[in-house]
Amino acid sequence: MDDAGRQRPEITPDRGDSRTPAEDVGRAPRGGRVPDDGSGDPALVEAVTEAIASAGGRITFARFMDLALYHPEHGYYLAAERRPGRGGDFLTAPEASPLFGLALARQVAECWERLGRPEPFVVREYGAGVGGLAYDIIAGLSDEAPAAAAVLRYRLVEPNRRRVEQALAAMAEVGLGDIVSAEAVPGTPSEGVPGGDLEPIVGVALANEVADALPVHRLVVRGGAFRERYVVRRDGPGGARFGEEEGEPSSPELGPALWDRLAAEGVILAEGDRVDTSPASADWFAAVGRGLARGFAIVLDYGYAAAELYRDHRLQGTVRAHLAHTVNDEPLLRVGRQDLTAHVDFTALQRAGETVGLRAAGLTTQGAFLTGLGLGDFLVRMQADPSTTPAEYYAAQAAVLRLIDPGGMGRFRVLIMGRDVPLGPPLRGLSVPPPAF
Ligand SMILES: C[S@@+](CC[C@H](N)C(=O)[O-])C[C@H]1O[C@@H](n2cnc3c(N)ncnc32)[C@H](O)[C@@H]1O
Repeated sequence: MDDAGRQRPEITPDRGDSRTPAEDVGRAPRGGRVPDDGSGDPALVEAVTEAIASAGGRITFARFMDLALYHPEHGYYLAAERRPGRGGDFLTAPEASPLFGLALARQVAECWERLGRPEPFVVREYGAGVGGLAYDIIAGLSDEAPAAAAVLRYRLVEPNRRRVEQALAAMAEVGLGDIVSAEAVPGTPSEGVPGGDLEPIVGVALANEVADALPVHRLVVRGGAFRERYVVRRDGPGGARFGEEEGEPSSPELGPALWDRLAAEGVILAEGDRVDTSPASADWFAAVGRGLARGFAIVLDYGYAAAELYRDHRLQGTVRAHLAHTVNDEPLLRVGRQDLTAHVDFTALQRAGETVGLRAAGLTTQGAFLTGLGLGDFLVRMQADPSTTPAEYYAAQAAVLRLIDPGGMGRFRVLIMGRDVPLGPPLRGLSVPPPAF
């Protein structure tokens, strides 16, 4: 059996439905309304309630999302007990199939060549979770670029320390303990430091579905200007619930400055339009860029360039909650029990990268990116391998289709930026033109 069918160590959550962008199903919850009473984790509800009280009666949605996802003890991503998490509530590309990481390894290998084969060669993965993608990338490099694998140092950056420990233990078990290490995330978003700065590396910084999990402010257009949608606590006959109220933007950067930036990107806004925006993800990406002495940053996520993001039905807002393979637009319910996401503004990320000296190599779709990296080759290899069972082959084939499906994961975006590296000719992942966007 070749790598396409290799068994990972026990670092892979179980399989399920994909975390397809909610817009694919319009604004209706994909799996129907979640059949529960909407109650959240009591300790986290209490923490949010306290935050609202100490802020004088309301907090921004960004602060709410910080607490819901990254409260140090009860947040969805940081809670002590193992949440359903990726495997239970939705599925990311690395969890969908090891082929994603094996293909990505080819891009990483090309980056190593572009960098002049540095030694050591550092891959820093943000949001590494339990290390599934790390394992697949190392496997891919070992097979197809052993010279790069020989000088590789793979660093996991993940705020959930328990996941990191799990990842390191699994890596040690499969003999990768010397290659893989963890770097402390200097602060979580809820501490106001979305990533902070890490030691500059020569290599590749990678992030799959991290930016979409960083807090957003929710704005609405009223009378030709932005108002902010705050979170408040409401007590009613059915018990206490979080609700929202509108007010002046919480910071000047969310007022005319943002309006002008979006207008300059070609965004046309009308009364009642809703704009979800994440200064935290731009700050995070600037920190990613500062963490590159020389090298490439590769960000994969769902989202669009600003002009496409803030258009049509997406102007109803893109914040969604994911729970048990359903998508809902009730982010104020089930606090701490469901994941919260919003589409990524790739223009904002690119600008943030540029402000810290990165240059854009390109923005493409995940479908075009993986096609350029020869994702289909793995199927051919599996087919030629007599040890591949029909079930394995068909499962891999389904995974490939899912990863490049233009109506699903294939339309995720991939942004590649570089510092002090040759950007031409196009990197392999950027060599296939994406469908017009
Ligand atoms: C949506 S999950 C994606 C996990 C994984 N990359 C995947 O594709 O399956 C987002 C991850 O980003 C992590 N994260 C959040 N803020 C981060 C930061 N500042 N630096 C690194 N990771 C972060 C979360 O803890 C979480 O594991």
